[in-house]
Amino acid sequence: MKKSTLSIDKHFIVGDIDKRIYGSFIEHLGRAVYEGIYQPESPFADEQGMRSDVIGLIQKLNVPIVRYPGGNFVSGYHWEDGVGPKNERPEKIDLAWNVIETNQFGLNEFMDWAKKADTSAMMAVNLGTRGIEDAKNIVEYCNLKGGSYYSELRKKHGYEQPHDIKLWCLGNEMDGPWQMGHKTAKEYGRLAAETGRIMKMVDPSIELVACGSSGLNMDTFGAWEDTVLSECYDQADYLSLHQYYGNQDNNTPEFLANTVAMDRFITAVISICDAVKAKKRKTKSIHLSFDEWNVWYHSNEQDKKLERWCKVPHQLEDIYNFEDALLVAGMMITMLRHADRVKVACLAQLVNVIAPIMTSDTGAWMQTIFYPFALISNYGRGTVLNTVVKAPTYESKHGDAPYLDSVCVMNEEEETLTIFALNKDLEDSMEVSCDLRQFKDYEVKEHIMLTHSDLKAINTEEQPDNVAPVHVKTTKVIDGNLQVVLNSKSFHVIKLGK
Ligand code: AHR
Repeated sequence: MKKSTLSIDKHFIVGDIDKRIYGSFIEHLGRAVYEGIYQPESPFADEQGMRSDVIGLIQKLNVPIVRYPGGNFVSGYHWEDGVGPKNERPEKIDLAWNVIETNQFGLNEFMDWAKKADTSAMMAVNLGTRGIEDAKNIVEYCNLKGGSYYSELRKKHGYEQPHDIKLWCLGNEMDGPWQMGHKTAKEYGRLAAETGRIMKMVDPSIELVACGSSGLNMDTFGAWEDTVLSECYDQADYLSLHQYYGNQDNNTPEFLANTVAMDRFITAVISICDAVKAKKRKTKSIHLSFDEWNVWYHSNEQDKKLERWCKVPHQLEDIYNFEDALLVAGMMITMLRHADRVKVACLAQLVNVIAPIMTSDTGAWMQTIFYPFALISNYGRGTVLNTVVKAPTYESKHGDAPYLDSVCVMNEEEETLTIFALNKDLEDSMEVSCDLRQFKDYEVKEHIMLTHSDLKAINTEEQPDNVAPVHVKTTKVIDGNLQVVLNSKSFHVIKLGK
């Protein structure tokens, strides 16, 4: 059995967790909106056509913010097509995903849905095929009380009160050649600066996310961040990061070692943000919005076969397995370890499209990745402690990867300490010890484990809990020391309190 130690000190904190780190994403793509969150003909639909079974599952995930309406989709979107009387809304081609968008669901429906799902909106504007003028208009439509053309138009559409959307994305993946209106860093940086300036003139209370790189593998990575921030440092509050991982080579140790790559990505972006801050002699820091992250590869081949111009296709419908759930846990631990700078993050996406929740005409169910997300989102509220992990490592293409990924979250109000731990070892269990003498009289309140004998095990509508967490009853604190054995390939939540 391998051995590891966790060292923490209640005074050595990384930072408070911004609850928006548990965000997600709904794009007009595949069956995310239509047949996902909205399906008027479904027996589960409420009076507005929203799927209440899906809302119930989203509430279990405890998602405080949802990014909308894209993604690549937003770079060709006319938000005006999705507001007003439904019978007057145009059907348009969507060049991001080569489908027909009916516009039967739009901005106002999304805001109604967000309320029902106990979440809030992170709204993206189109900086691909559009620009400053439209960004100005949508902020006016959403956030001004009234007395102007677009705010009155919102009222005419039946929304007397402003939506008051606080967080806005300045476009999407503008570094990507696949993006409609793809730009150089300089072009995008200037546009982001001027669009952001005007949007904040309409509503100074909003916060803005500028586009960073679409992944660490982009050729322009680094130079992109530097140039973009050099142009829009004053207007931006956050810089985005996007990253998806896959196990195409069927090499699970390498796949799980992606937490090392993710950590390196985050650290690099923080360095660039701070370098621009130093060059500009600024006091404000730019925070990180990891607003697309997940595993994505299972559906790639299938998606290549899709016919153009259909409506609501099964697209990006990855069926997740147990090892994907392990990586999702590891990715969340990695982001939490940077809670001082990663303030927003969005699991991409939420329903049907590379998603923890799947729907059919007969119901909605939870994929494997639902569980680590729900556990960390519900248990990971408070302050991240600087968690020093001393663990054996293995070689990977990203460098030495620790077998153990872990982070401790202290909640002073509730007087709890929660340990998240992922044992990536596929053969061996791991004995973990943690000195808890500073946490006098704390004992184990709950120990929840996610494991499975088969790395490729999946959940289905018929068996949504094939891969699901179980409670462990035997874990104890003895003489101020937690000593726990983590099974091979397993994720754990250990909650301690008085
Ligand atoms: O989430 C799916 C797609 O991945 C998004 O539309 C895009 O931003 C990214 O490339």
